[in-house]
Amino acid sequence: MENENLKTVLEEKRTFEPQSNFQQNAKLQSIAEYKEKYKKSIENPEEFWAEAASELHFFKKWDRVLNADNPPFFRWFENAKTNICYNCIDRHLGSATRNKAAIIWEGEPGDEQVLTYADLARKVNKMANGLKSLGVKKGDRIAIYLPMIPELAISVLACARIGAVHSVIFAGFSAESIRDRVNDCQAKITITSDGAWRRGKHLLLKNIVDQAIKNCPSIEKNIVIKRCKTEQFDCTMEPEKDIWYHDLVEKCSIHCPAEEMDSEDMLFLLYTSGTTGKPKGIIHTTAGYMLYSYYTSKYVFDLKPEDVYWCTADIGWITGHSYIVYGPLANGATCLMYEGTPNTPHKGRFWELVEKYSVNIFYTAPTAIRTFMKWGDEWPNKYDLSSLRLLGTVGEPINPEAWMWYHKVIGAERCPIVDTWWQTETGGMMITPIPGCTTTKPGSATLPFFGIDACVLDKNGEEQNAGLLAIRKPWPGMLRGIYGDEERFKQTYWSKWKNIYFPGDGARKDEDGYFWILGRVDDVVNVSGHRIGTAELESIFVSHTKVAESAVIGIDHKIKGQAMVAFVSLREGNDGNDDLIEELKKLVVEKIGKFAIPERIIFTADLPKTRSGKIMRRLLRDIAEGRTVGNVTTLADASVIEALKEKYQDD
Ligand code: WT7
Repeated sequence: MENENLKTVLEEKRTFEPQSNFQQNAKLQSIAEYKEKYKKSIENPEEFWAEAASELHFFKKWDRVLNADNPPFFRWFENAKTNICYNCIDRHLGSATRNKAAIIWEGEPGDEQVLTYADLARKVNKMANGLKSLGVKKGDRIAIYLPMIPELAISVLACARIGAVHSVIFAGFSAESIRDRVNDCQAKITITSDGAWRRGKHLLLKNIVDQAIKNCPSIEKNIVIKRCKTEQFDCTMEPEKDIWYHDLVEKCSIHCPAEEMDSEDMLFLLYTSGTTGKPKGIIHTTAGYMLYSYYTSKYVFDLKPEDVYWCTADIGWITGHSYIVYGPLANGATCLMYEGTPNTPHKGRFWELVEKYSVNIFYTAPTAIRTFMKWGDEWPNKYDLSSLRLLGTVGEPINPEAWMWYHKVIGAERCPIVDTWWQTETGGMMITPIPGCTTTKPGSATLPFFGIDACVLDKNGEEQNAGLLAIRKPWPGMLRGIYGDEERFKQTYWSKWKNIYFPGDGARKDEDGYFWILGRVDDVVNVSGHRIGTAELESIFVSHTKVAESAVIGIDHKIKGQAMVAFVSLREGNDGNDDLIEELKKLVVEKIGKFAIPERIIFTADLPKTRSGKIMRRLLRDIAEGRTVGNVTTLADASVIEALKEKYQDD
């Protein structure tokens, strides 16, 4: 897969200069300007970030911008006091932004809600007081399991306001996933809704949470938002534990002081998949993350006060944290938030919304773009998309063909495209065009953001044209750890080279210094922009009594970017039939969620292994992608490959 990607991007030679109309009105207007600012940010990062931070509100200023005395434990804006919710809301209440729309929301059925910054302030304060009334204190963990409704943003901001640590769990995760995440961080409260609208139906979220928290002794209360206000739909409330959101906030005051947080106080946890069976609780702290999400939003989206900005991600992932909630609101922007899927009730739904709200900036994932391509140009062509002025992508490498389609059909060749490479761990965009400055190349995330010292290294730390992506300097938005697992933090990100961050991606750097991200080099698969650890799936399969062993790999997929194929060998006397495939899929749904079901499950008598017993995934990948199988000289039993190849073609 890496080789295929490398081939495609080596052949890609097209370049696109920033459109002059865009450029003339942009914050930064030339590559020279980018280079100058970049140089400053690398040569003198502390001065650079201090100046940037002075655009935000601090209750107390820092003593030191960066403490790098004890890597990889970096500390930013030491001893300063601030609050990110204050910066996202209160900071704007003294200006004209106060009465500007902060969130324009539309539900799947078409219901609408607009919250100005002042509205948001009242709702967040009420919710913050509600949490306090339940005994929530600074540092307590709160798990949030909600659909894309305004109360999700409100809950997140309310936690930040009082210094409670939020852990948002994407509403596609199963009860068992919720349970594990809640237990890992010992959350005190869960926040959910009766249900969600999904493709015209109700998704019963509260039932899933009920099932999860039966096995979560740390949970004291469960706050329930009423989303599906229909008569036939009522969920059972357990008086001891469950409390309606509307009852909780009804009597709460609209005033709630923002807690003065230390720069390095924990802001949130967000669980993400790694190379073991156990997801990692990524830790982000207050001031650095705040500054980084603010500053990247400002320059990469080139936000203007009058813009309507739409990021189609879910707040359950980092993209939604940084670029629906914190970054845009810290900039006083107007965000469109949408509850539904792109094809309910029809395949033109997103474009209908772009027209309806005159969206100016649109940020989505390559997998969505490829899906739109498949549905056909007639859908976007039905709507007036002329309000769009900037397009963005995130989550996985974008193939040049999809990039060109986005450029032509959605952007009418008028809009720059920012292909932004970053991760849950980085907090914000790391390699990205600056739209008024950077000449783009389809498929390349282009150049590093300010302060980001990116390079491509081999395993010995030597710079190469193709190899492993690495970040040499700390940056404000960086993760500060993995919850409860310092060793894993050091091992995963900081052990490849000395004091250099290893993101887990392969990359190529071209003659212009442009980065081309080639995908993960570890056992993490990126399916439709969702990160899934192959080990997580493997451990699920082997938990089934009939399964002896399993190996899961990622293969190229036309729409999803990557898809998973599971090779499963059974215990003696068991038959690999369709019923068992269904059972295994069901198990994945129970343990993780529907989105993690592999594309194919293949039963095999044996898995190819080295003489020392290590499964040779490379060979499995070759088989699954129909390539000539690579070097098998280290294989313990070469006949396994022949049997597998036959099996794969049969299925
Ligand atoms: C992984 C991070 C960043 C928010 C969404 C995903 C891949 C992300 C790009 C891009 C190529 C990309 C990388 C990265 N990725 N953006 N523009 N080009 N690859 O966050 O779940 O933390 O996943 O997504 O492989 O490591 P995440």
